[in-house]
Amino acid sequence: MWETLHAEILDKVREYCRLRHGPKPFLPGASRVPYAGRVFDDNEVVAAVDSVLDFWLTLGPQGDRFERELADYVGARHALLVNSGSSANLVAFAALTSRQLDRPLRPGDEVVTVAAGFPTTVAPIVQHGCVPVFVDVHLSTANAIVDRVAAAVGPKTRAVMIAHTLGNPFDVDGVLDVVRRHDLYLVEDNCDALGSLYRGRRTGTFGHLATQSFYPPHHLTMGEGGAVLTSEGRLKRVAESFRDWGRDCWCPSGKDNTCNKRFGWTLGTLPEGYDHKYVYSHLGYNLKPLDVQAAIGREQLKKVDAFTAARRANHARIRAMLAPYEEYLHLPEPTPGAEPSWFGFLATVRDGAPFTKRDIVRYLEDRHVQTRQLFAGNLLRQPAFEGVEHRVVGDLANTDKLMADAFFLGVYPGLTPAMLDYLESLLADFFADARRSPRAA
Ligand SMILES: Cc1ncc(COP(=O)(O)O)c(C=O)c1O
Repeated sequence: MWETLHAEILDKVREYCRLRHGPKPFLPGASRVPYAGRVFDDNEVVAAVDSVLDFWLTLGPQGDRFERELADYVGARHALLVNSGSSANLVAFAALTSRQLDRPLRPGDEVVTVAAGFPTTVAPIVQHGCVPVFVDVHLSTANAIVDRVAAAVGPKTRAVMIAHTLGNPFDVDGVLDVVRRHDLYLVEDNCDALGSLYRGRRTGTFGHLATQSFYPPHHLTMGEGGAVLTSEGRLKRVAESFRDWGRDCWCPSGKDNTCNKRFGWTLGTLPEGYDHKYVYSHLGYNLKPLDVQAAIGREQLKKVDAFTAARRANHARIRAMLAPYEEYLHLPEPTPGAEPSWFGFLATVRDGAPFTKRDIVRYLEDRHVQTRQLFAGNLLRQPAFEGVEHRVVGDLANTDKLMADAFFLGVYPGLTPAMLDYLESLLADFFADARRSPRAA
C-alpha cells in the first residue's frame, strides 16, 4: 500500500534529520562562526521529500500556495516565484519595458540607482539598454541619499531601482516623494530585507514591483530561489509573461483554456484562433523554480517571525559589543522610521584608525569568523562595468569609502550564544591591541 510506505518514508526522514542535521557542539577557535547559512529542521526536509515523492516536479501546487502565503505575509497582492533574486530583478525590470503598459521604459531611458551594492540590482537596467544613474549613499546605512536621488532626475529619468541595504530600509518617504513628483517607477530590491518594516509597513510593498532572494544566506531559503512582488494586476500579468517564456496565455502548468477562448483569440497578424498557449507577447525567459523548492520555502516562511527576532537580537548584541569601539568604527543606524530585519552587521573603519579593514577582517577570518564585503563595493570599479554607459550625480565618496573600509558580520539565526561570546572575546582582544597602537596620521 503506497500510503503506508509514504508515511514510513517520511518518518524515517524525520529520524534521519535529527541524527544527521541535529545541533553540533561549538568549539571556540576550531569551529566556524558563519556569516549566514541555511537554518532548517526536519520539516523542510520532509516537505522536500514529500514533494519529490509526489513527483509533480515543475512549479505547481506547492508553488501556488507559497506564492499566496508569501504575498499575504509581505502585504502585496501578488507574488511570483522565480529561480533567484537576480532573476526576480530581471523579471521586475523587464516588466516595466512591456508594450502592454501605457508608458513602458525604452532603451536610453535613465534609471536612478546606487553603485554600493549587489551587481544584479543594476545589471537588468543595462541589459535592457537603459542608462543607470548612480548616486552616493549614507555611510551609516549604505542606502541612497535622497537629495542625490532628487538631484539625479533629468528629462530622461523614468525609474528608481534600489535595494534596502543589508535589511535596513532606505528612506522610503523621501524616495516615494521623488518618485511621485516625477511620475517614476520604483523597483524595490527587497532581497536582503524580508520582514523589515518602514513606518509599520513591510518593505516590498512600496515599489511598483519588489524582489526577494531565497538563496541560503537570505532571510528564508529554497536553495536557489526568489520572488517578484506587486499589487498591480497588469504588472503581475506582464511579469508572469516574462518569467514564463514571454507567453500571452496565463494557464497554470498542466492546465488548458483558463481564458475559455483558447482558440478564440485573434492577435496581430496571427492566423485567426491560433492556439493561445502558443501566442507570445514578450521576448521572455523561463525563470521558474521547481515545486520542491516551493515546498521548502513554505516551511521556511512558517519560521520567518522567529528568524526576524533572532536577526534583530543578534544585531543588537553585536552593536553592544562594538559600541565601546565607536572611535574606530562607523556603526550602522536604522533609518528613521524603520525596524530592520537585518541581513548583516555593517562596520566601517574610520579614517585615522590604527588598523585597516584588511587587518580586522584577516584577524577575524584567521580565527574562523566569517566576514563579507558590501558585495561589489563600488560597481563602477568592477570589470563588468567598464565601458557601460552611465551617469554619476555628485561624487561617490561614501561608496568608495565603503568599498575601501567596510565589511559585515553575520546576524543570521544560526548564530548561537556561544558563537557570539567567542566573537565578543576576539573583538575585545583586537581592540585592546588597537588602543595600545599609535593612531595613524
Ligand atoms: C540586494 C541583492 N539583490 C539581489 C541579489 C541576488 O540574489 P540571488 O543570489 O538569489 O540571485 C542579492 C544576493 O545576495 C542581493 O544581496
